[in-house]
Amino acid sequence: MSQVVPAAVPFRVAVVNGSPSERSKTMGLVDVIVATLRDVLGAESRPIEETRIDVYRLGPGFTGALDREGVTPEVEAALRRAEEADLLIAATPVFRGSYTGMFKHFFDLVDQYALANKPVLLAATGGGDHHALVLEHALRPLFGFFQAMTVPVAIFASSGDFDGTTLLNPRVYGRIETALTDVADILKERAAGERTAPVG
Ligand SMILES: Cc1cc2nc3c(=O)[nH]c(=O)nc-3n(C[C@H](O)[C@H](O)[C@H](O)COP(=O)(O)O)c2cc1C
Repeated sequence: MSQVVPAAVPFRVAVVNGSPSERSKTMGLVDVIVATLRDVLGAESRPIEETRIDVYRLGPGFTGALDREGVTPEVEAALRRAEEADLLIAATPVFRGSYTGMFKHFFDLVDQYALANKPVLLAATGGGDHHALVLEHALRPLFGFFQAMTVPVAIFASSGDFDGTTLLNPRVYGRIETALTDVADILKERAAGERTAPVG
């Protein structure tokens, strides 16, 4: 016997954006990532079910929560969306040389084991290029703690790559395509494993 994922089962993508801005460059970068993901996965793939979590919109039920038991039902639902996603896109602006405090607070509330082996795509924006390695020095170790499977290519864009919140720089578009080709390969390998893995 083998396990087969039916084509109609949605592929769940959750985006966590650590920006406190309503007009967020980081979410502008995510717009391109998600659009490219749809192209790379192609029309025959499972339908994509997308959840976007702007952490600042979660409000006092999030910022005032000291632990998971203290969150409101809305925040609990957002945490579960991130924990249960097939692909997590972890995106944040660089603040003071790292991820934002609210981004970290969100992941402080995520269950310690919920992201194990989960594909996680890392993305960040900054005022300039000087802090691009925040992806490797801050974000990747955080998801290393969770034993998540971070995608090897992480994506960075700086303010000069945007017009407002619209990403313009073709070099960043190219990097997004490279990262998502890796994501597609990871997903194909997993789907093949699911088809051959014995049940039980
Ligand atoms: C409080 C604060 C701290 C920041 N610190 C940095 C920093 O250390 N390095 C950097 O490159 N940009 C820094 N920036 C600039 C933001 O990372 C940049 O404008 C980012 O694209 C904003 O993303 P958003 O529009 O999604 O909020 C900082 C901005 C703010 C408001």
